[in-house]
Order: sequence, then structure tokens, then C-alpha cells
Amino acid sequence: MSGSKLKRIGIITGGGDCPGLNAVIRAVAKSAMGEYGATVIGIQDGFEGFVEGRMHEISNKEVSGILSQGGTILGTSNKGDPFHYPEEGLDGEIKIVDESARVMRNYRRWGLDALIAIGGDGTMHISNKLANLGMNIVGVPKTIDNDLEATDLTFGYDSALYVATEAIDRLHTTGSSHHRVMVIEVMGRYAGWIALGAGLAGGADIILLPEIPFTWESIYLKVKERSLHGKRFSIVCVAEGAKPADGDIVIKEMDVKRTDARRLGGIGELIGNCIAQDTGLETRVTVLGHVQRGGTPTPFDRNLSTKFGFKACQLAAEGKFGHMVALKGNRIEAVTIKQAVAKQKLVPLDCDEVLAAKAVGTSFGE
Ligand code: F6P
Repeated sequence: MSGSKLKRIGIITGGGDCPGLNAVIRAVAKSAMGEYGATVIGIQDGFEGFVEGRMHEISNKEVSGILSQGGTILGTSNKGDPFHYPEEGLDGEIKIVDESARVMRNYRRWGLDALIAIGGDGTMHISNKLANLGMNIVGVPKTIDNDLEATDLTFGYDSALYVATEAIDRLHTTGSSHHRVMVIEVMGRYAGWIALGAGLAGGADIILLPEIPFTWESIYLKVKERSLHGKRFSIVCVAEGAKPADGDIVIKEMDVKRTDARRLGGIGELIGNCIAQDTGLETRVTVLGHVQRGGTPTPFDRNLSTKFGFKACQLAAEGKFGHMVALKGNRIEAVTIKQAVAKQKLVPLDCDEVLAAKAVGTSFGE
């Protein structure tokens, strides 16, 4: 398109990876080069790479054949927030410093007119602050957690659901053969969309979400009740951020270098042990982990990513900075990044999925 001021456009992937990132990179790069004749600069390894100035010009060849590839060809990192940058001293001690000026310098040094920032909550917060320093940013929302309020869906979620649902299906057959309680822990720190979506699709008997603190009694009761009715197995789908009403989330590790220092994990094991102890039933625990974040995107995610990437490029060419692309119904629209970071999208307790799951007999451990 002639008349566009878009000459050099940067692209960065921040936070945890997810299926569909490469499809966005491809869509941005191909639209930028093809439609606007722009040069595309890839920033390596998220904001860590931006602070350190690790960037390169992306060729058409580099973005060819990556549509169906999981991960990100640029690399990413959930460490290195430029405003809270972890710097390791000679004594090994980590100091948190503000390196945003270095990022701004690299942005100018590479002659960028705009940056397409693909990421979740953390990346959008950083983007909002960089926009306030004068960077021309357009955001693209990604996360398997689907916890950004401003968009109906993020890409990566559908792919994660597919993997998690398949895992539950597999646990179903082995669980029912051995008459066991099968606990599966899926990702979702503060929002339980994966546990809810996969639990519903996989027919889990108990779904535990961060949004609904559970009681141990109600879990035991549900499992025992199924046993009494001759159902000799149970499936429990638990989000890593689920917590008992009288307790707290289970933290696996603290790492100050991360944008969110808390790394969760372990609630599945705890629940499995408690069920086995209370009910006397044989119990097995599966932690799905990063399997649900890797691999090829579903067709839905590939298409959403491609539409997001194209729209982001279009917004940048129109000079509509400080905005994030978002899915609203069937349309891709623009919302302000400020609006996008205002609120996390948690599972509403009265949403259709929760109501439907309850109606078919699923317990939420209340
Ligand atoms: O943000 C997505 C997410 O998948 C969370 O649900 C999970 O807690 C986190 O990433 C784990 O990320 P990592 O292991 O890369 O630190």
C-alpha cells in the first residue's frame, strides 16, 4: 500500500511461548514486506534481547514454512522486564534495575518506526510503559491461559485445550480399566480457562479452578459418591493455581528474574495424595506441564494468529499506536493497550461452561 510511513518495523515475542506465535510472525513479516514494502527487524529472546540489542533483519525465507510450527523462531523469555531488569553482580547477587532507556536506545539505533509486541499480560504491561516513553507499539495478545479481558480469545488457548482434552481422554481409558482416581494438573495460574475447557470437553468429574476455592470434603464426597454408584473411576482436572478455601496456592519455586517471580506446580500431587489417603482409592497424578504449550497450533489458532498479525501490521501502517488487536465476536478490532491491561479475564462463576458442567454432574469442589 503506498503512502504508508511504515519503513522499518520491529517484532518481538515476550513471555511464555505458545502455539501460533510463528503464524503471527509470518503474517506480520509477509504483510509488512508485501503490502507496505517495509523492512522487518526481529528481536531475539523477548525483552532480554531488546535490552541487549540482539536483533536482526528478517528475510522472506526465514518466515517461509513456519505457519504450522510451534514455538517462536525469534525465541522468547519470561524474564528481563526492562523496567525491573535483573542484573547479576560479580558476587552473584541479583539487583533489579531500570533498563528501559537501553531499550529505547536500541529501538532508535535500529531506526524502527514501530514495534509489534506479541505477548500476554506481562508483555502488554511492558508495552504500555514503553508506549508512554514514546515507542510506537501495536500489541498482539497471546497466551494459552486466555486470561486477557480485552479479547474474546487469545491464540494458543485452542491448541492447549486440544492437547489437554486428549490427555484427559487417554486418562479416562486407563483410569476406568484400573478403577483409579486420575488427577490431571493443567496450566492456569490465576485463570482456570484451560482446566474448565478441557475438563468440560473431557468429561471430568471434578474441575478445580483458581476462581473457585475448593473444600477437601466436597472432593472426597464426590469421589466416594461415584464409587457408591458403581462408577469405579473418577477424573479430577485441576488448574495449577487452584487452592483450598482454607489454604493457599502451591508454589514450586521463586525466581526474582521472572516477570512473575512465582512458579506454580504441585497442587495435583497434593490432591492426589489427599484423595488416596481419605478414600482409600488407588490414585494416579499426571502433570501435563509444557506439553500443552508446545507443538503445532490448531487450524483455529493458525487462522486467528494470521488475522491478528495482518491487522497489527495494518494498525502500525495507519499509525494507530498504543493499540492491541483483539477478537470481538467474529471481527478483529483494535483496543487500547491501556484497556487491555486494565483487568485480567477470570472465569465468571456463572458462565455457560460452569453452568453446563454443573448440570451434567461435574463438581467444582465448592
Ligand atoms: O502464562 C502461561 C503459563 O503457561 C502459565 O499458565 C504457567 O504458569 C506458566 O506459563 C509457566 O511458564 P514457565 O514454565 O515457562 O515459566
